Amino acid sequence: MLLTDDAPTATQAVDPAFRRDIIEGLSRSPKATPPIWFYDRHGSELFEAITDLPEYYPTRTETALLEQHGPDFAEAMGEGRAVVEFGAGSSRKTPHLLRAIAPGAYVPIDISGDFLRASSATLAQAFPNLPVIPLEGDFNQPLTLPKAIGAMPRLGFFPGSTIGNMEPDAAVDLLRAMRRVLDDASVADGAMLLIGMDRIKDQDRLIAAYDDAAGVTAAFNLNLITRINRELEGDLPIDGFAHRARWNDAKARVEMHLEAVRPLHFHVAGQAFRMARGETIHTESSHKYGVRDGRLLLRSGGWEPVREWTDADGLFSLILARAG
Ligand code: AVJ
Repeated sequence: MLLTDDAPTATQAVDPAFRRDIIEGLSRSPKATPPIWFYDRHGSELFEAITDLPEYYPTRTETALLEQHGPDFAEAMGEGRAVVEFGAGSSRKTPHLLRAIAPGAYVPIDISGDFLRASSATLAQAFPNLPVIPLEGDFNQPLTLPKAIGAMPRLGFFPGSTIGNMEPDAAVDLLRAMRRVLDDASVADGAMLLIGMDRIKDQDRLIAAYDDAAGVTAAFNLNLITRINRELEGDLPIDGFAHRARWNDAKARVEMHLEAVRPLHFHVAGQAFRMARGETIHTESSHKYGVRDGRLLLRSGGWEPVREWTDADGLFSLILARAG
């Protein structure tokens, strides 16, 4: 059953935050833009395609963990929880969790409204007796959960190693914000969080996951240029940029960049910018976590880890934590 929670209707107007973030990011040295702006409609579709790539192991590894450990989840989480998914996307992993724990409601939160509505409708069909209450918004901003979930105990679900997009400071802030959103003093049973984290591993394997042979990740990265041109009156030459994926060992992260292949001069929203050949726009960081790093990060964010599930090759891990 699909319920709507007086969500604002989508508008055609350009998001002023997009303009501000891009102008600010291109004015900085080195240039860097936030990864949330990858996800227009086409970007969301390209990301879906990435999750099917042979090189991109995170999605299938995490999905297998969710499929395999249902009985553990049921035991550790109990029934009747309101599952609040942060950045729900297409929610292909979620059915495994929902089937395992008999939740009281499902609240997917996503910044991309169209995508959210489509995937919520699909999920509501698969679970006809489950109240599905999509919430359109940015989970980095303060959010209020729908009243319909009442006094149900809450389970945050943050799969995909999306946390890895954040610098450690910001990741801690986000974990604390999730705790504030989920932990309602009037609900007897404390909030829990199930979070996916990608592990540090062989560099070649990490790079390949972000620079696939079919060029889908390159298209995903370059789509940001197309979006800037379309929505912000940009004139960036698409053939002036090359997709790059690099491992930053000091920061334990894969970085994606758009590198100028020749000296460039372009405009965005009436402002002029230059790039030297070889200069880059840093478009995304994907932090990876050592065996104990994930648990340490959770504790810093106010969550006490209670269980962890990992595949046999130690590629990816799912951690369950309790509001501390
Ligand atoms: C959605 C942020 C988890 O970092 O692996 C995939 C995004 N970027 N390929 C990731 C992404 C390029 C993805 N996250």
